[in-house]
Formats: sequence, structure tokens, C-alpha cells
Amino acid sequence: MTTPTGMMKTGAVTDEFDNAASSYDRLVAANPGYHRDLRTSARRLRLPARGEGLLLMDLGCGTGASTAALLREYPLARIVGVDASEGMLRAAAAKEWPANVTFHLARAEDITPGWARELLGGSADAVFAAYLVRNVPDPDAFLESVRSVLAPGGRLALHEYSVADSASAQAVWTAVCWSVVIPAGRALAGRTDLFRYLWRSVLEFDGRSALLERMRAVGLESVASAPLPGWQYGITHTFVGRRPLRRPGPGESGPVSGSREAACPPGEGPAAREGAR
Ligand SMILES: C[S@@+](CC[C@H](N)C(=O)[O-])C[C@H]1O[C@@H](n2cnc3c(N)ncnc32)[C@H](O)[C@@H]1O
Repeated sequence: MTTPTGMMKTGAVTDEFDNAASSYDRLVAANPGYHRDLRTSARRLRLPARGEGLLLMDLGCGTGASTAALLREYPLARIVGVDASEGMLRAAAAKEWPANVTFHLARAEDITPGWARELLGGSADAVFAAYLVRNVPDPDAFLESVRSVLAPGGRLALHEYSVADSASAQAVWTAVCWSVVIPAGRALAGRTDLFRYLWRSVLEFDGRSALLERMRAVGLESVASAPLPGWQYGITHTFVGRRPLRRPGPGESGPVSGSREAACPPGEGPAAREGAR
């Protein structure tokens, strides 16, 4: 990848997050609905029994906002936060967590079933990745890694900005970045590199249909997206999918197990879904 945004993703982006770690929580607190929306996406995993007996991974956990959302929805699960930025991870680990929450330093695209077995004792029943897939150098390799650490039937929820399919979403995103996000970043973090990267990386990232297609291409089934409310309606979305219970047999090309119903929560039904198929 040769674009400035692409070069950031091979390493500099996590250095920038190291620099922003101390101001990150204040920055996201200025975004109305940030924590509520993370909880909505976590809920869209639709895991049973408040997560009892399940292992959940929060990839790109940052300072723990998404980890807290998972914990709120699934307080009985074992939850493992993973991030490649030591600064963000330190800020997360410094908070108070119950014993069922732990943190590990790793690049998300490097995780393997062997890593999960050795460090966590097995594969994940669900993976949550909030504001991560856009930041990895190779989203297909990342999604393949995620699929490989999911148990059969395991679920994935990506919480991500995606504006490429909508000219109005792109315009709103650019207006919000230059009037609010970049000035707030300058005021709170003292520099704007990460926030200008945020603006550009979202504009350059997949539209909803392309991301859903990537998810299908690595073999996830029941993939769908659903919107989030408020100013970011049409900008931020939850993308869900799950690993099939078994691999397709000879002559079978698509999903072969489980319901084709998209993993949207009850009450949000097909009308709230975007592009499920
Ligand atoms: C925008 S923050 C989101 C943090 C958290 N999920 C939240 O919702 O607040 C993105 C996080 O992804 C991490 N990150 C970026 N690229 C990564 C990679 N390749 N592997 C693991 N973590 C990565 C960054 O260090 C940062 O903490």
C-alpha cells in the first residue's frame, strides 16, 4: 500500500494511538452516543445467557471503551481485550475491571488459532472489533485471522465508519471532521495527525456493500449491517456475521449451516437492516 493512509496502517497508526492514549477518553466523551452505540453493536452479537461460559475477544480494544460495552452486555463472559498500542492498552489495564476481563498486546492481523489456544485456552465464541478493520493494513487478512480464531458458529461484530456508498454521508463526515473532530483533537491531544488520518481513512475505506462482501469472501455467513442512530446515522454501522458450523462440502458454495437470518437484534428487524442478503 503506497498511499499516506496505507503507510500509516503498517505501524505508525498504533504509534499515533500511543501518543493519543492519555487524551483518548476525553476525546470520545465529546462524541455524543459513543458509549451507547458501542453497547448497541455489542448487543447485536446476540449472545445468550449474558455470556455465561463464553470467551469473547475485543480486538483493537484501545482504552477499553468497547471492552466496557461487552462487559455491560455480557457480564458473565470471559472477555479478552487485544490491542497493538502499548499506550492504549496501558490506559485500559489501569482501569478497574473484574477478574473475567484481561488484556493482551498483539496486532490483530497476527492472531492465530495457536495463539488463542496458548494464551486463552481455546477459540472465541465471539469477536468484537470497534473502529479497527479500517485501520489494519490488509482487511482481508485480518478477517481471515478473525474467522480462524472463531469457534464454529462463533459470531463477529464490526463497529465501523463506512461512507463510500453515500455521497451525503461523505459530506456530513467531512463537515464533522473539519468543524469538530480535528479542532477537538488539536485542543485535547495537541496535534492533529491522528485526526486528519481518521478523516482520510474513513473516506478511503470500503462502502457497506464492499465490507459485507469481504466478510462473505472469508467464509462468514448471515452477514448483514445495521445503522446506528443520531448524527452518525448512515456513517457508523454494525457489521455482523458468523463462522459456519461446518465447512461447505464439494459443490456447495455458500453458507451451509445455521439460519440465513441476519444477526440483528429483535425489535430492529429487517427494516433497520442495511443490505442483508
Ligand atoms: C479508534 S481506537 C478504538 C478503540 C476501542 N475499540 C473503542 O471503541 O474505543 C482503534 C484501536 O485499534 C488499535 N489498532 C490499530 N491497528 C491495530 C492492529 N493492526 N492491531 C491491533 N490493534 C490495532 C489502536 O491502537 C487503537 O487502540
